[in-house]
Amino acid sequence: MKVKDILKDKGTEVATIGAEKTICDAVKILVEKNIGSLLVKDEKGNIAGIITERDILKQCNQCLESFSEMKVGDVMTKNLIVASPDDDLDYVENIMTQNRVRHLPIILNKKLEGIISIGDLVNVLRGECKVENRYLKDYISGKYPV
Ligand SMILES: NC(=O)c1ccc[n+]([C@@H]2O[C@H](COP(=O)([O-])OP(=O)(O)OC[C@H]3O[C@@H](n4cnc5c(N)ncnc54)[C@H](O)[C@@H]3O)[C@@H](O)[C@H]2O)c1
Repeated sequence: MKVKDILKDKGTEVATIGAEKTICDAVKILVEKNIGSLLVKDEKGNIAGIITERDILKQCNQCLESFSEMKVGDVMTKNLIVASPDDDLDYVENIMTQNRVRHLPIILNKKLEGIISIGDLVNVLRGECKVENRYLKDYISGKYPV
């Protein structure tokens, strides 16, 4: 299974925020949409980074006083780790685990094609395990013709 198969079900819409917005603006969108990440766009509309719950938590820990005035662009992660629609889910699982990231923007020819989270991945892998489990149980209990 590939990244594009997840996007077929999940859709390609990606929630974004401007780098000049405040962290409080980001928190509001995250809570309203019930998601854990926002891609950050610069003034030209290009992707400049990603802001996640963890980035916000780190900022909170560093400086609670200035928290409400901080801009998204000052807190976001700038070195984006990305995947492409044709990547296998095994590969994506490895990237997420090795880099300890839970959200991967999906990019093709420099264009944003979607975003997948560790939850999306676990959901698919869980489905695959269930199907395999069912086949194995049927096989063991002799449901298949010999
Ligand atoms: N059963 C499901 O279908 C399913 C799918 C994903 C997550 N979850 C659950 O949600 C909880 C949190 O999930 P998570 O840690 O993977 O992260 P999350 O809360 O950020 O992800 C939840 C969903 O929002 C989407 N999302 C996140 N950021 C987005 C953005 N900027 N634009 C568009 N979509 C965005 C993700 O792709 C995922 O589908 C977990 O409890 C997980 O099990 C369930």
